[in-house]
Amino acid sequence: DKGNFRHFMQKEIYEQPDVISHTLSSFFDMANGRTRLPRGQEVDFSKINRMVLSACGTGYYAALTGRYYLERYARIPCDIDVASEFRYRESPLSGVDFALFVSQSGETADTLASLRHAKAEGLTTAAVVNVDESTIAREADIVWPTLAGPEIGVASTKAFTCQLTALAALSVAAGVQRGVLSRDDELTLAKALSEAPRLTNAVLKLDSLIERLAHDMATKRHALFLGRGFNYPLALEGALKLKEISYIHAEGYAAGELKHGPIALIDDTMPVVVIAPYDRVFEKTASNMQEVAARGGRIILVTDERGAASGVVKDAELIVLPDMPEILMPIVYALPLQLLAYHTAVHMGTDVDQPRNLAKSVTVE
Ligand code: M6R
Repeated sequence: DKGNFRHFMQKEIYEQPDVISHTLSSFFDMANGRTRLPRGQEVDFSKINRMVLSACGTGYYAALTGRYYLERYARIPCDIDVASEFRYRESPLSGVDFALFVSQSGETADTLASLRHAKAEGLTTAAVVNVDESTIAREADIVWPTLAGPEIGVASTKAFTCQLTALAALSVAAGVQRGVLSRDDELTLAKALSEAPRLTNAVLKLDSLIERLAHDMATKRHALFLGRGFNYPLALEGALKLKEISYIHAEGYAAGELKHGPIALIDDTMPVVVIAPYDRVFEKTASNMQEVAARGGRIILVTDERGAASGVVKDAELIVLPDMPEILMPIVYALPLQLLAYHTAVHMGTDVDQPRNLAKSVTVE
């Protein structure tokens, strides 16, 4: 039931504050600000030498963000690959003792085959999974559930932000166990994560502003998405969302890769969505934006109050989010990208919930 919403995707975007809050509650004891893994699914992170992560599509972008989290907060060395490559790559797994898979449906053929491959190689396997009755949930040694509820729209939205939430929380738990984070750090990060429902709610208030920007996006043939660091996987996810449901050709890049090729595409017909909160790499991304602006590219800058105040590009379209701690950025910044893709597709009249050629669950390779 779509309730008052026009599409399941729109409903699922709006459910995010609630489902993120549910997902958080399974990884945190909010009363005392401590992380705790779901009962029976505990892991001794201090014993992990090296981890491999794998998934498909949006789950892969969540896992890519997970690598940033696990390396930053828990100092766990991570390898990552899309599942369709991982299962056949025959990569030597020496030194790797733990494999983490991310899947909404828990039925994706390549992800399941990768899980079986990792098990056969003797790794401990864990899955961040949304459907708890799924094959992946049954076969993984450890299951860390996301509590997004059923996701109907083919374009994943709430499952993605719940995956990010789970991965952020797991990284904090791992960091504490490995002695990378102190008790104070844990409290600070837990408190930061507990703000996710409030902040995602605040971002939903920008809906009509984003809808206006989408009018213009709907007239374009191509778009570029740029981000750095924690927000680089979001550039990939923003581009995937747009291409899946609006059929506009969109590419996501690490901002630093701009001058290694994609800058050749920039002219005044090319919108460039830049995800750049005022974080430790903002200045770097700011110079990429100047390169785009100098070539007539039209920038949509998703940033925060400080990023907007920096006045880096004069005539950029701005989507200004509240200031927030770094750990929250991938989770909260996902929403404006989802809304941009959604409204663009609605303007274009495509079938938002059932885009052409796509299936919700890809059970064949
Ligand atoms: O169910 P899974 O998370 O394993 O699915 C993986 C991908 O097929 C999925 O994320 C796909 O890319 C979505 N359509 C993205 O919106």
